[in-house]
Parts: sequence; structure tokens; C-alpha cells
Amino acid sequence: MSHQILVFYGSYRSDRMGIRLAEFIVERFRRRGDAVELIDAKAVNLPMLDRMYKEHPPGKAPEQLERLAGKIRDADGFVFVTGEYNWGVQPGLKNLTDHFLEEWFWRPAGIVSYSGGRLSGTRSATAWHGTLSEMGMVVVSSTIAVGPIAETLAADGTPTGGGGQALERAFPRFADDLIWWVEAAKMQRQRKKPPY
Ligand SMILES: Cc1cc2nc3c(=O)[nH]c(=O)nc-3n(C[C@H](O)[C@H](O)[C@H](O)COP(=O)(O)O)c2cc1C
Repeated sequence: MSHQILVFYGSYRSDRMGIRLAEFIVERFRRRGDAVELIDAKAVNLPMLDRMYKEHPPGKAPEQLERLAGKIRDADGFVFVTGEYNWGVQPGLKNLTDHFLEEWFWRPAGIVSYSGGRLSGTRSATAWHGTLSEMGMVVVSSTIAVGPIAETLAADGTPTGGGGQALERAFPRFADDLIWWVEAAKMQRQRKKPPY
């Protein structure tokens, strides 16, 4: 069965590296037969948060906010590809996610972290876990952590060396875990209206 999966990525840097990993994740879910889409915060380019989506009168939100709200509502699950800036989250991705709240509810999310060093962005993954829970997502326990990113994925996205092999090995379990919860949440939403 095909599932609607959104993969979020949020670096605005000109020389950003994490796009390799975001595209790898999209490609691998696509190979499994899922309807997956990359949401690149830099391409969406929301302004710094002023009004959340829900603070706009119905039908009056800016078009890109309305379109993204619809995609989030329609999705069955989410993946957040998170780089690490100063032990924390990337501001572009955080700014995008903060525009929404109820639109995220009752779906699972998985975290894929990376960084320029060996610690693979795990401190940003830890920070994201609490944030995604607060936004009503159920965060699955499987994670992927990639570092150093430059030694793991070539510019064309091909996995390289030992890091690339580890990434190839980690993906199936991560995807199986996320999709198991995607199916569970989907059935439960059909069976019973969410409590709020
Ligand atoms: C502002 C900034 C802060 C960073 N802080 C950390 C850090 O705390 N830990 C770490 O492992 N790498 C850190 N790095 C290295 C990044 O993980 C690395 O540059 C990564 O490629 C950034 O993602 P991007 O290329 O997709 O923007 C930092 C990079 C920048 C630009």
C-alpha cells in the first residue's frame, strides 16, 4: 500500500550539504512505493513567523501557507531531516514547522539527523524529539544519524565509504518502523475520530 510521506529539510545555506541526505531519503521511500514529497523550507521560503496558519481567517492565509497546510493535513507520516547548528535545530526548519500546529496532529514522524562531524547531529535530533511531540506527532524510536555528511554521500547523492554503507543498512529498519506506525495511525483515524 502506498502512503503519503512528507520529508522536511530546512537549511538555507548556499553550500548546504543536508540536501543530499534529504534527497536520498525521498528516493528510498519512493523505491518502496510510497508517495513521497520533499518539502524544502528554503524553496517554500516562509517569512519569519508572524501569524500562524490558523491565525489567518479561513481562506485568507497566504497561498504558500494554505498549500503547505493542505499537504501536511493530507500526509500519513513525516520525516524531518535535521542538521545541527550549535547543538540545536536549524532555524529555517523550525520556522516552517512553527507556522502549523493542529495540521500535524495524529501522525507519526521519524528523525534523520546529520552534521559535519562524527556526532551526526544527534543533539539536534534530541531537541527535535520534544518539539515534534509538542506538535502532536508520535516520534518513532528508530532514527538515522549521518556524519560526517561529506564523507557519507557524494554530491550526486550516492552513498560512499563506510558511512554510506551504514546509511544503506539503517534505512530499511527506519522506514519499516515509520510505516508500521503510519499504518497503525491510519487505521485508527478511520476507526475512531481523534479526541480533539
Ligand atoms: C551555524 C552552524 C553551527 C554548527 N554547529 C554544529 C554543531 O553544533 N555540531 C556539529 O556537529 N556541527 C555543527 N555545524 C556543522 C554542520 O553540521 C554542517 O555544516 C552541516 O553540513 C550543516 O548542514 P547544511 O550543510 O545542510 O546547512 C554547524 C554549522 C553551522 C553553519
